[in-house]
Amino acid sequence: MSPSKKRDTAFQKCINPDCGAEFECALVTRGFKCPRCGELLDVCYEWDKVAVPRRLCDFGRRWASRDNPLDFSGVWRFRELLDFCEDRYKVTIGEGQTILQRNDAVAKYVGMRRGSVFLQYEGLNPSGSFKDNGMAAAFSHAKMVGARSSACASTGNTSASVAMYAHSCEIKCTVLIGSGRIAFGKLSQAMDYGARTIQIDGDFDECMRRVQEVCGKLGLYLLNSLNPFRLEGQKTTIFRIIEQMGWTVPEWVVVPGGNLGNSSAFAKAFYELKQLGLIDQIPRIAIINAAGADTLNELVNNRKLTWNEGRVDQAIIAEYYSELTARGFSPHTCASAIEISRPVNLKKCLRAIEVCNGVVLAVTDEEICDAKAVVGRYGLGCEPASAATVAGLKRLRSQGIVGSDERVACVLTGHPLKDPDLTVKYHKDRGGSFSNPPVEVANDVDQIIRLIQA
Ligand code: F0G
Repeated sequence: MSPSKKRDTAFQKCINPDCGAEFECALVTRGFKCPRCGELLDVCYEWDKVAVPRRLCDFGRRWASRDNPLDFSGVWRFRELLDFCEDRYKVTIGEGQTILQRNDAVAKYVGMRRGSVFLQYEGLNPSGSFKDNGMAAAFSHAKMVGARSSACASTGNTSASVAMYAHSCEIKCTVLIGSGRIAFGKLSQAMDYGARTIQIDGDFDECMRRVQEVCGKLGLYLLNSLNPFRLEGQKTTIFRIIEQMGWTVPEWVVVPGGNLGNSSAFAKAFYELKQLGLIDQIPRIAIINAAGADTLNELVNNRKLTWNEGRVDQAIIAEYYSELTARGFSPHTCASAIEISRPVNLKKCLRAIEVCNGVVLAVTDEEICDAKAVVGRYGLGCEPASAATVAGLKRLRSQGIVGSDERVACVLTGHPLKDPDLTVKYHKDRGGSFSNPPVEVANDVDQIIRLIQA
């Protein structure tokens, strides 16, 4: 593998402080783990060698040159903050044109003042989820290292995004999904975009384990969030939130917790911006699990697992996972995107909680479905996992953890059409507080008029 020219400004570093091994960006380690100790890796920068703008608002100038695809991209517009590869390798399909919407109706629903709740619609990305932010970065790295074939495990959105980027940069891709565990919108995308789609009899955690084995054996490029280059792209959601808040930070960011890549990336973004003197304060982060897949909630809130300066108590994790195995546990939630019980970025997320003074909680499927209907009725809609943020915020308000006039950005990670089945079921079955079922009537104009006027 040829060494990267960017090696002097960016490098990979093991997150374990007792190891701290460093590697050049051109090195693809097995499963993107530290070859010395097996821990996760970060992408780090020698900031004094990077031409980072002096003020964040300087990035706003790129709007004027958006005929340049890298300036148009909501990821590469911020390229100095993820400067790990040369421009010639950078991949973009127009990701990151996402909007932050102030939504007072949602604010009212969660018990907050007008003007305090903002929804960051990452579902507006080309493949309909936030994953495109990460894939723009990961596929750029894949091109930089000359990868020809790639793979991922997925609850759906990763596979859709991988498939879309893979065909656009002519890299082969295989996606592993759990049979019956994926929303149909997402499955349809993987097939339509030409991925080799393999359904296995198992849940996401099993797919994740298998894909690492397969990538190891066949030398495929791994696109799950173990890949630290992917997480660099996911930092840009934060840059765009800040941009749309007039280059100021909110008090809180609320994000769903699945494999815990986003939460890890968001905290890294804030940490680096603070380090660079580009923001004064690091916002707090709230990570929301679904109650049926609540490993983070259980470990952090009940078993008191912490980052502990990088010396995470592995025994707590091992004990919990062996309990899950002993009772044959497989996670279940209507928010299939976050139906994960062994999140691969757990340790990075513990660090994120430390950096952002974070909180974790789990919400029920019922709370998720109602919150999703509220985002649908008063906003642009979102998929179930995304609505966990609004459900979570409502709880945080009722517990007094978030103040009624603090500014909160909820990251809506996926598009409502990703999972139409659940939406139709919610409304048709009249099961929720916001159900809006269709009314059946004879094909008769008077009866139709009577119904409209009722
Ligand atoms: N929201 C949506 C819509 C997702 O698709 C995912 C993850 C998450 C939230 C959780 O994000 O892993 O960064 O904590 N989906 C992955 C997939 C697992 O395969 O599509 P995370």
